[in-house]
Amino acid sequence: MANIQIRKYQEEDSETVKELFTSGMNEHLPSAFVHLLKQPLTHMLLMCTFCSLVATSKSFLLPVLAVALLLAAGRQAVVHMFNAYIGASLKSDLDDVVESYLRRRDSCFWVAESDGRVVGTVACLPAENAPEFLELKRMSVCRSHRGKGIAKALCRTVADFARDRGYPAVILYTSMVATDAQRLYERVGYKKIRQFPLPDFFPKIINFTLIEYKLDLERDK
Ligand SMILES: CC(C)(COP(=O)(O)OP(=O)(O)OC[C@H]1O[C@@H](n2cnc3c(N)ncnc32)[C@H](O)[C@@H]1OP(=O)(O)O)[C@@H](O)C(=O)NCCC(=O)NCCS
Repeated sequence: MANIQIRKYQEEDSETVKELFTSGMNEHLPSAFVHLLKQPLTHMLLMCTFCSLVATSKSFLLPVLAVALLLAAGRQAVVHMFNAYIGASLKSDLDDVVESYLRRRDSCFWVAESDGRVVGTVACLPAENAPEFLELKRMSVCRSHRGKGIAKALCRTVADFARDRGYPAVILYTSMVATDAQRLYERVGYKKIRQFPLPDFFPKIINFTLIEYKLDLERDK
């Protein structure tokens, strides 16, 4: 991990941090769309539309066009689902990182810097629904700096912070399509706790789930 420094967030990192978060999240769009295409409900909708239009119209073009339209609408719905999450995050904690993390107890936001450029981020704070644990959030590494162990170092930073403050465990949530992140967390010792659907209508009908992971810190004391 040559030339990489992990330091606390500073105000001037704001735009880069937002960009890293947004691009990291948007990377999952293609696999989320593939997930949508694999759903039995999607197959059924496309087949029914195609067959009923073939049966009722004399043209072959109409059913093909209708299927193409449905696919485009499905992709837009996936884009909307991601944009809603990204927009909400940019308007909440990422809008004021100092207030959301640096001024709060047992919370922090770090960036990884390479040659003076911010190339990675991670944060933690007491988990909203389980304040006895710290929650790791906002993990993202710039594409050009992947595979160098930066995310592993960021995970270690959070685990050390939690251990120093006497927390027994770190938890986090990631989506079913963030497979690189799942491998990362499992590699550094997190265990899958549960997998559950998002409460909103669209993610629910396409079976889009979140995974909760936990790193037990008491075990390796
Ligand atoms: C997930 C992410 C943070 C990994 O960053 P990274 O700096 O490349 O990760 P590291 O180099 O520290 O790799 C750590 C481990 O993760 C796993 N891993 C990471 N990327 C992987 C990939 N593309 N394929 C397979 N394993 C991968 C490996 O097990 C690796 O350990 P190893 O090299 O010792 O086997 C990065 O891909 C990313 O920012 N993705 C987009 C945003 C995102 O999904 N964030 C998580 C939201 S919860």
